[in-house]
Amino acid sequence: MPSVTEPPITTPEFAALQRHASQARSWQLRELFAQDPQRASHFTLEVAGLCLDFSKNHIDAETVDRLAAFARARRVETLRDAMFNGEHINLSEDRAVLHTLLRVPPGTRFMLGGVDAAAEVHQVLDRMAAFCDTVRSGAWQGFDGQTITDVVNIGIGGSDLGPVMACHALRPYARPGLRMHFLANVDAHALEALLPALDARRTLVIVSSKSFTTRETMANAQAMRQWFLQHGREADLQRHFVAVSTNAAEVARFGIALENMFPFWDWVGGRYSVWSAIGLSLMLAIGPAHFRDFLAGAHAMDQHFRTAPLERNMPALLALVGYWYRQFFQTASVLVAPYHQDLHLFPAWLRQLEMESNGKDVTRDGQPVQTPTCPVIWGSVGTNGQHAYFQLIHQGTDLIPVDFIAALRPMHAHLDQHRMLLANCFAQAEALMNGTVGQQLPLHRSFHGNRPSNMILLDQLTPHMLGALLALYEHKTFVQGILWDINSFDQWGVELGKTLASRIQAELDGTTRPQPHDSSTAALVARASAALR
Ligand code: F6P
Repeated sequence: MPSVTEPPITTPEFAALQRHASQARSWQLRELFAQDPQRASHFTLEVAGLCLDFSKNHIDAETVDRLAAFARARRVETLRDAMFNGEHINLSEDRAVLHTLLRVPPGTRFMLGGVDAAAEVHQVLDRMAAFCDTVRSGAWQGFDGQTITDVVNIGIGGSDLGPVMACHALRPYARPGLRMHFLANVDAHALEALLPALDARRTLVIVSSKSFTTRETMANAQAMRQWFLQHGREADLQRHFVAVSTNAAEVARFGIALENMFPFWDWVGGRYSVWSAIGLSLMLAIGPAHFRDFLAGAHAMDQHFRTAPLERNMPALLALVGYWYRQFFQTASVLVAPYHQDLHLFPAWLRQLEMESNGKDVTRDGQPVQTPTCPVIWGSVGTNGQHAYFQLIHQGTDLIPVDFIAALRPMHAHLDQHRMLLANCFAQAEALMNGTVGQQLPLHRSFHGNRPSNMILLDQLTPHMLGALLALYEHKTFVQGILWDINSFDQWGVELGKTLASRIQAELDGTTRPQPHDSSTAALVARASAALR
């Protein structure tokens, strides 16, 4: 594993960037466009059916060169190769990071610990495909001979967000008559809202958990199992419960037969796992062939990321421009605005990807970081956001870079509405950049403009392009982690809350006496204990 010991901000490349940024901060975007009539084409890239126009940013050719030089000095290319080669770049957990291996084409060979891991990936994919075909064709029958009409994926975090987001995004590809449900929250209001819609004889439950110890998932799985046993017998469970996990022992302990378990591997991080068997619900919805297109789209982006020079590398550029604003313009958040209703869960997926990966304040070798790291990622679909919070993007006091995402061609025939949608999307980016400069307006009606955005255009929201889009952001996240010198593949920050929740739950359950807490927590526990007595 190559180490990068020098802190990022002590390198000459960083110093050069800093000097360059002190000039760039005074640039006006509209002047950059006026100076270079070809600016849009100079800062537009096309890869795997995706087009990234990053021209509406405070950058010029020198900025790109300096950012790429900085990235090289941070050994982005070396670490990228180390990731693809299966080196243990997840240092704190001593693991490889190989979600890219989940989308290699059949026939690829990749030896890992003495086994061909690529062959294992395809064996599991083939098993998933056979299972999905059986369920989708109606050959898989519930305990009294009924076909499956409802699938419930129980999982949380990466075991939920990828599949649920992709199922919504690829809604037009879904098999009619097979309804997908996602149960994540331990809040049983979600369970209560779901159960009346289900018929136990026709319901398939997928318990999705890498660890198979996540308390929320296990609580929901036990609750679903109890619900099922009000209708079917213990022996019928095998027709209605399957598992996706890396933990065969816990799956067996839960009572799911190993032939109903779809495995994956410790080198797949939860938030990078939609490509693995965690995507079983997605494959059930869209079918094995479309699922393979989804993998192929991601693989096309992987190939580009692996081979293109940083100056023309889409994920690297997205990362570098994001780094530029975070480091030198002190931006604290990034708005992601998909102008596509079927991508309405994309911001939620991206939040986990970027914030759980890079929301860290310790370097890879265990030192406090010296620069800001991951910004807050937030957003929702356009045009809804325009009528809710875009006011602040245009006239608020903070600079908030935006990633607009849209598809050129819709999956429906309402072309007038689609033109209206795209017009709004492009108009927002134009308004953010140009403002009302040059117009005589009262202050409250004037916009200063000069606000940056990226525009990502998909030809159409197909499985292939969704795969490429997700891989684009995965690699963006990876590159930014290197620039910030942090490990993007662990998530120790979530552990303390889990430990404390277990202790407080024992107090609320009455299985332990009240523990010492601060006066606020103690009062909250006492109040809830009294309410639930
Ligand atoms: O607690 C955080 C986390 O570990 C995420 O990283 C992960 O995606 C989620 O919980 C679910 O974990 P599991 O798949 O092991 O249930």
